[in-house]
Amino acid sequence: MQNACGNSTMFTLFCELVRSRSNVSPKRLGAQGPTTEQMNELFTLAAAAPDHAMLTPWRFVLVPSNKRSLLAEVFAAALLDRDADATLEQLEVARAKAYRAPVLIIAVARLGECKPDTPALERMVSMGAAIQNILLGAHAMGFGAGLTSGKAMASHRMRGLCQLKDGESAVCCLNLGTVTQHKPSSRVRPLPAQFLSVLQ
Ligand SMILES: Cc1cc2nc3c(=O)[nH]c(=O)nc-3n(C[C@H](O)[C@H](O)[C@H](O)COP(=O)(O)O)c2cc1C
Repeated sequence: MQNACGNSTMFTLFCELVRSRSNVSPKRLGAQGPTTEQMNELFTLAAAAPDHAMLTPWRFVLVPSNKRSLLAEVFAAALLDRDADATLEQLEVARAKAYRAPVLIIAVARLGECKPDTPALERMVSMGAAIQNILLGAHAMGFGAGLTSGKAMASHRMRGLCQLKDGESAVCCLNLGTVTQHKPSSRVRPLPAQFLSVLQ
């Protein structure tokens, strides 16, 4: 099929890749996840994100299998901080979130003082692009990937776990693995006319 760029194979593949990506819940991810080598490739893609003043205003914290229990306790303790009446069952649900995906990475934004003083919003744009590069790269490798967040991300428990410095914030988790249960994306994507205007 022809596209706006004629028969450019690279553009056709790119469109197919971008349009076919969708968020995969960690509940639908199982073994195997990307290997260490593949993860390194994905992180080099993150490093290709646009970055005003080359600040690398983000970092990623990989949580290996043998450290998932630490994350599980952060999820449970953060829930108890918010709700002292949380039931044992609710705490178990919170803990389980740390174990679902074969690969779990915490994305940290670095929004504190920096030189030059690139606005925090611009730095968040860079982080979003870095995350998207990882998601698209994982999708191209044949893996499923999904983002998760929640109130625990901003908790002092998470700050301690990721050893966040002043100005750093844990934003979301990237969950990567093999899709165990395919689900057609029900998302209706907005049309350009819905988000595009022409300056008059
Ligand atoms: C920063 C961020 C955090 C997110 N956190 C969650 C989450 O906690 N739970 C969830 O189901 N999806 C989460 N998502 C994924 C969105 O729900 C998903 O991208 C959205 O539904 C659009 O679907 P798509 O990615 O398949 O296009 C998050 C997305 C972003 C950008």
